[in-house]
Amino acid sequence: MTYAPAAVTRLSLLVDLASMLAREVDLDAMLDDVTGALATALRAERATIWLVDAEQGDLVTRVAVLPEVGQLRQPLSRGVAGHVASHAEVVRIDEAASDTRFDPSADSRTGFVTRSILAAPIREGAEAPVRGVVQVLNRTGGPFEESDERYLEALGIQLGRALAMTTLRAEDVSGPGLVLRGPFNRIVGRSPAMEGVYERIALCAQTDATVLLRGQTGTGKTLLARAIHVNGARSGGPFVTVDCTTLPDQLVESELFGHERGAFTGAERTVPGKVELADGGTLFLDEIGDLPPSMQGKLLRFLQERTYERVGGRTSLTTDCRILCATHHDLERRVEEGTFRRDLYYRVRVVQIDVPGLAERGPDEILRLARHFADLYAARYGRPEPRFDPSALAALVAHSWPGNVRELEHWIESAVVLAPDGVLRTDRFPDRPPGRTVAAGDGVLVPHDLSIDEARAAYVRATLERCDGNKAEAARRLGVSRNTVAKLAATSSR
Ligand SMILES: Nc1ncnc2c1ncn2[C@@H]1O[C@H](COP(=O)(O)OP(=O)(O)O)[C@@H](O)[C@H]1O
Ligand SMILES: [Mg+2]
Repeated sequence: MTYAPAAVTRLSLLVDLASMLAREVDLDAMLDDVTGALATALRAERATIWLVDAEQGDLVTRVAVLPEVGQLRQPLSRGVAGHVASHAEVVRIDEAASDTRFDPSADSRTGFVTRSILAAPIREGAEAPVRGVVQVLNRTGGPFEESDERYLEALGIQLGRALAMTTLRAEDVSGPGLVLRGPFNRIVGRSPAMEGVYERIALCAQTDATVLLRGQTGTGKTLLARAIHVNGARSGGPFVTVDCTTLPDQLVESELFGHERGAFTGAERTVPGKVELADGGTLFLDEIGDLPPSMQGKLLRFLQERTYERVGGRTSLTTDCRILCATHHDLERRVEEGTFRRDLYYRVRVVQIDVPGLAERGPDEILRLARHFADLYAARYGRPEPRFDPSALAALVAHSWPGNVRELEHWIESAVVLAPDGVLRTDRFPDRPPGRTVAAGDGVLVPHDLSIDEARAAYVRATLERCDGNKAEAARRLGVSRNTVAKLAATSSR
């Protein structure tokens, strides 16, 4: 091959795409990486990925957590990208200035001079709806060739398949375009309640600071911890989890720090600890609130000095790892009770991220997550495209979700397994929620057989959602105090 480096980049681009998909990567960063590699692979001066925004019905250059940042937007009727998106065909132009489909207004805004253009639709297959456009400009050493065209067309389909597996996929898979379900791949949710969480995840990922994730079980703490790791400088290193709840006291130390051969009966060889395995990466101490008191001092010393000894060993060892922790416990109370060391508490709590419970995120988020899991499990179990029975949607919104996202995931998995026809119904949920529903006044769905308290809680949550999670505003509308809103919204519906 004459152009070996470009050919290698072409292949590795496809491989990278596949590996990035398995992770909780920041989608924005992923698209940036892809365009960078693509420009190199096709020896182009510039590469752009346009996405069809299904909500607005136009083209956007990138998808950001804050939609207004650094984004180009244009109607589907304009320019080469618009043509590719609306006609679903590849366009190759040798001389932009003499082509009527070319829109020179972007150049005059940016100062860039477009000569040659190659653009292909992003879609899952040749007949599938268009999700976006991948475009390269100004090939060095002559216009784009036939082989470039075939490559870009294939890449457009790879990208389409890739996006279908991310949170950046269509709400309605049979229609065109994409909807941003969450800012990170595999993390769904755009509720106001989660916005601050995502912002902190992104900021923490830029640094090596110790972070404590707090929230009820099943809220996504483990998933978010992984997101901090894979979006940071250590993403190439290991992510090692220590679950502090499942370990008997005597084993915690050896699990964390390893042991020497002969350290205790049965220790037939030297075994490295999790701390050592996490070298160059991240050590995630899950449920740190459950760490036995006997270990808290040893962990504190490790956090302060980054040195440790294996069980039965005398040499001081050191390791370079970033620490993330999570807990569902009220650590302040544990400190007061004396079951959690105060100095350790201060050490792990450098930056704190409070992950809200599922019910606090509002009905839209519950339904968005439900659709996400339905698609996920339907694909996994080979079920037809899932559809929700209206009563099932109402039941999902009315439930109080004490088990949070994990509980929702189990409900949906169960319903998908029990639905060979793809229809998700309440009687296919594991824990049968109230069945029939009525529509109340302005559209809040409240199931028939709720108690007054349960119905009130559902109504308060709906109001809160309408106020974008603003408790003070919801309190004003409902004519009660802010605390009452918080208390009522948290009332269990079962
Ligand atoms: N925002 C989310 N989007 C998609 N899946 C989620 C989300 N939050 C949680 N999950 C899924 O729910 C389950 C529970 O999440 P997990 O991170 O284990 O919770 P925790 O550690 O707080 O108990 C996991 O299967 C996880 O992938
Ligand atoms: Mg967890």
